[in-house]
Amino acid sequence: MLASIGHDIVKAAEILKGGGLVGIPTETVYGLAANGLDLAAVTKIFEAKNRPTFDPLILHVDSIIEAKKLTTQWCKTAQKLAEAFWPGPLTLVLPKSDIVSNLVTADNPTVAIRIPNNKIALDLLGLLPFPLAAPSANPFGYVSPTTAQHVADQLSDRIDYILDGGQCEVGLESTIVSIIDNKVTVLRLGGLSIDKIQEVLGQRVHESLSSHSNPMAPGQLNQHYSPACKVIPLEKVTGGEYRGWLFFSRASATQAIENLKATRGSYTLPDESKDKLYFLSETGDLSQAAQNLFALLRQFDKDHCETVFFEWAPDRGLGRAINDRLKRASAK
Ligand code: TXA
Ligand code: MG
Repeated sequence: MLASIGHDIVKAAEILKGGGLVGIPTETVYGLAANGLDLAAVTKIFEAKNRPTFDPLILHVDSIIEAKKLTTQWCKTAQKLAEAFWPGPLTLVLPKSDIVSNLVTADNPTVAIRIPNNKIALDLLGLLPFPLAAPSANPFGYVSPTTAQHVADQLSDRIDYILDGGQCEVGLESTIVSIIDNKVTVLRLGGLSIDKIQEVLGQRVHESLSSHSNPMAPGQLNQHYSPACKVIPLEKVTGGEYRGWLFFSRASATQAIENLKATRGSYTLPDESKDKLYFLSETGDLSQAAQNLFALLRQFDKDHCETVFFEWAPDRGLGRAINDRLKRASAK
């Protein structure tokens, strides 16, 4: 049976209590949720996503009180960041407590925790006596979903239900920060900019964003977030302000660049049947660009585009996270 898309939070809660899988909206991307304290249910997540078990999961809760139960070291820094940014696109990695299984943490001594900023997700968590383990609801390595339909497109035959919360507001995954022995390290760029974190802490934080064969955060694997189409960066060729153009072309790369130059950043193209220009944000707004990125990459695959060229975002704030995803999408 294919999972249906709906708005029934009580039904979702019953499925989760029974050990099933539910696609849930969050402000960042859709999650593939299961009872985070039930090993059999968590195992189903790895199977449905085709995800290697060395890649740990995030536990979602609806209060700081619940978060504290999952860690042995709720320090002042964790409290400060949680108060400033939860509910929101921030995941904290802290030493795990005994109730958290090694399956969830992939044998790491730490656990990733966050409170999502989405009413449906919070209402659902309110009905449950356990945290929700939820990775992004996409097959491993593919672009994360930002609508309920995206989840259905790829996983409806492997899960039980999908809660519809419309389009995700942020559109990029959470920023992941580890706090170990008071050392604060950013492990994944995401929907919360590092500047904001540093502002609240009043100090610079470390960054550990490179990929390894056994990465701290496998979301950092070079080829994560990869669509099927070829994604190629181009140095700015249209001139003008950043608008996040994505240029789909059936022409050769050299010809595509010529065509793109001819557009001078407008929609007018020599041959609309061969070339199409899209903007992540007409006004150059980075939040809007982030919100649109994954949906457009998925659309290109649906339209069987072979090659998509893109312009880099300005390397600041959310632009860094956008560039991180574009870099990985183009790593193939
Ligand atoms: O915005 C998000 O974070 C979304 C929504 C659904 O909450 N979730 C998400 O989950 O992006 P996922 O599984 O696709 O990415 C979680 C990342 C993985 O790269 C994983 O390696 C990292 O979090 N992670 C989880 N536990 C960790 C730990 N103990 N130490 C380091 N990294 C961890
Ligand atoms: Mg993911």
